[in-house]
Amino acid sequence: MNLPTPVRELRPGLWVKDEGRVHDRYGGNKVRKLAHLLADAEARGATDLVTAGALGSHHVLATALLGAEHGLRTHAVLVPQPDTEHVRHQLARILAACASVTRVGGSLGAAVALRTVRARLAASGRIPYAIPVGGSSPVGVEGWIDGALELCGQIARGELPRPERIVVALGSGGTSAGLIAGLALGGMPVPVLAVRVAPRWLAHRGRVLALAGAALRRRGARVVPGPLVVDPGWLGAGYGCSDPRLDVIVDQGRELGLPLEPTYTAKAFGACLASATNHGPVLFLQTASAIRIRTADRSPDGRG
Ligand SMILES: Cc1ncc(COP(=O)(O)O)c(C=O)c1O
Repeated sequence: MNLPTPVRELRPGLWVKDEGRVHDRYGGNKVRKLAHLLADAEARGATDLVTAGALGSHHVLATALLGAEHGLRTHAVLVPQPDTEHVRHQLARILAACASVTRVGGSLGAAVALRTVRARLAASGRIPYAIPVGGSSPVGVEGWIDGALELCGQIARGELPRPERIVVALGSGGTSAGLIAGLALGGMPVPVLAVRVAPRWLAHRGRVLALAGAALRRRGARVVPGPLVVDPGWLGAGYGCSDPRLDVIVDQGRELGLPLEPTYTAKAFGACLASATNHGPVLFLQTASAIRIRTADRSPDGRG
């Protein structure tokens, strides 16, 4: 991993911590979670990874690419999401990088397919390791406790001022959970504004707090997670659905040298701009990968 990830001031009072190139193979917020998840999979002797996501899932692609570096094959179960150029681009790379892909109609079908894939692998003598949607288990969340502690170090060294709040996209919740846990552990409980871009059953405050607590317990840490505010105003018609505000936000990001994708980061950055006040600096967490993936990047037994 390329750590620490850089921090810079986009314009007065608006800072970014950029995860885009945290790994040479694939960037974004999934990488820190996968560092812990893949170590756990290896410790358990796994041969294959089984996970789920939407058709354009960054998590599924990151799992397949980084899992391959550990000799692990990835089996993905994919649920629909609105069709965009970005989603098609991601899907082509997922198909190339995964050992198998099962497309289902929704979350119920996904639960059944995940069980079936795991059973099929076990029956053929393989050892499957299940990774939850978004890599957001207490093990994965530890990666973002590391990320938050890294940020505390950068603030302590004066690389950026202590922000008045941190703004991040909220999907499966692991990134926000690790942030509120790690900031408390680092003695800097800065409030986190988590911008909900996924349905409420997946992305809600209770889930984030439960994940943060579970990850802290794994570390044997007896601190209370820092403050969390969930902004529900950016989901629009649903996960991955476009929003008339996004084009302007993407342009604003581009002018500031911040590339944004429509599903997560454009919505979170929109909330970041809307929430900016004169009370103090705001930090935006750039969670999308800035690494361009070729479809030729395959897993050990990749299809495609
Ligand atoms: C680019 C991007 N940003 C943010 C998130 C949200 O992170 P989390 O699922 O940990 O809430 C995701 C999750 O898929 C993502 O792909």
